Amino acid sequence: MEYLEIEGQKDLRGVVEISGAKNAALPCMAATILSDEPVILENVPDLLDISTMKELLEYIGIQVEEIQPHRFIFSHGKMPSFEAPYELVSKMRASILVLGAMLARYKAAKVALPGGCSIGTRPVDLHLKALEKMGAKIKVEHGYIYAEAPYGLKGAEINFEKITVTGTENILMAAALAEGETIIKNAAKEPEVVDLAVMLKKMGARIEGEGTDTIYVKGVKKLSGTTHSIIPDRIEAGTFAVLSALFDGQIIIDKYPEEYLKFVHQILKQIGITPVKIGEAQFIFKPENSLRPVNIETKEYPYFPTDLQAQFMTLLSVVKGTSTVTENIFENRFMHVPELKRLGADIEIKEKTAIINGVEKLSGAEVKATDLRASAAMVIAGLIAEGTTRIYDIYHLDRGYENIDYKLSKLGARVSRGIQEL
Ligand code: EPZ
Repeated sequence: MEYLEIEGQKDLRGVVEISGAKNAALPCMAATILSDEPVILENVPDLLDISTMKELLEYIGIQVEEIQPHRFIFSHGKMPSFEAPYELVSKMRASILVLGAMLARYKAAKVALPGGCSIGTRPVDLHLKALEKMGAKIKVEHGYIYAEAPYGLKGAEINFEKITVTGTENILMAAALAEGETIIKNAAKEPEVVDLAVMLKKMGARIEGEGTDTIYVKGVKKLSGTTHSIIPDRIEAGTFAVLSALFDGQIIIDKYPEEYLKFVHQILKQIGITPVKIGEAQFIFKPENSLRPVNIETKEYPYFPTDLQAQFMTLLSVVKGTSTVTENIFENRFMHVPELKRLGADIEIKEKTAIINGVEKLSGAEVKATDLRASAAMVIAGLIAEGTTRIYDIYHLDRGYENIDYKLSKLGARVSRGIQEL
């Protein structure tokens, strides 16, 4: 089993550059299915999930070529297959994002039902109900979603009973080529949803209201190619903001998307950490002498993101006093708590809320990564803990953090990888 070994309490300082947003790149890659003209995507992060989406698109029949680092051209090659097979979908739930685009473009799709993952069952019922409202015939059997719309999709009024990021993105892509107008109510407002809409509009889609809770899409017959640059990753940025604060603001974050982290900045200021802009898109995070405990509730954008919950729990585990973190989005996103306790954190869970009593310091131990963002929380913990920490199941980290070993080593961290023979 591969692990990342970290020697704690090194003096970290220097500049780290934020990569393109994984959760914008994935829907934008799926959107290349919608046009038979070439599409160029820039600032695409080099991540496991991106490679999986690339494999999936190639399986469907899209040619994907890396013309320069982080710059890909997508063009239609051989006759498409309308299938997203289990062995690819099971590696990455976000594969569901090809469903709406395949239905809109090919009028048929067979997509393996994404499994759950450690943070929750992750159903896609809302995606399917919405596509049915647009005229798709959908059946789920033998672990596959069979969808068809032989006469094309029709615009409809979609009212999501829960805010769903990839659900909103799937319907945006389906509606772009549907006949008539689609209204998406209770839409997700995440910047990554807006980035997808911006790309679709550059391809000729007629979309209004992206970034609000109601999006209007007027279907068009055809979408053209385009060139689009992916926005910076606000979750990677928030992760490094926590690290900067824990190392006295000595870490400078470049290409920092401040506009997507306004609410997170409010929480940081409540803790006693000041975001300081020191240059064009360059920030440091300066802690006051003593930090204060806070209460955090995860909610949909623009409020506190569930994807930063674990990282902030590591920070609060060494802030004197009692803090609470309530997870409202996923039913099982506290898997990092027992791991943080192995490092000496004092945390107990009461239903959806973790109660954190700050301790003087953490001490290194063997832990495991349980999901993508929890693995980042373990890395932060290992960097501040006394002694050595080994994080197993480290593949979770590589799914969402580009060149993390390099970025950390450049800051002065002592990290190395190893394989433990079982
Ligand atoms: C997206 O997942 C992100 N992934 C997640 O990031 C992120 O944590 C999540 O949004 C919430 O912000 C991508 O964008 C690829 P949801 P998504 O549909 O779209 C329930 C990461 O770390 N729901 O917004 O799958 C669902 O169970 C990942 O990069 C239904 O019940 O999340 C959850 O409780 C982790 N039925 C809530 O809604 C549905 O059909 C929000 O889920 C769909 C969702």
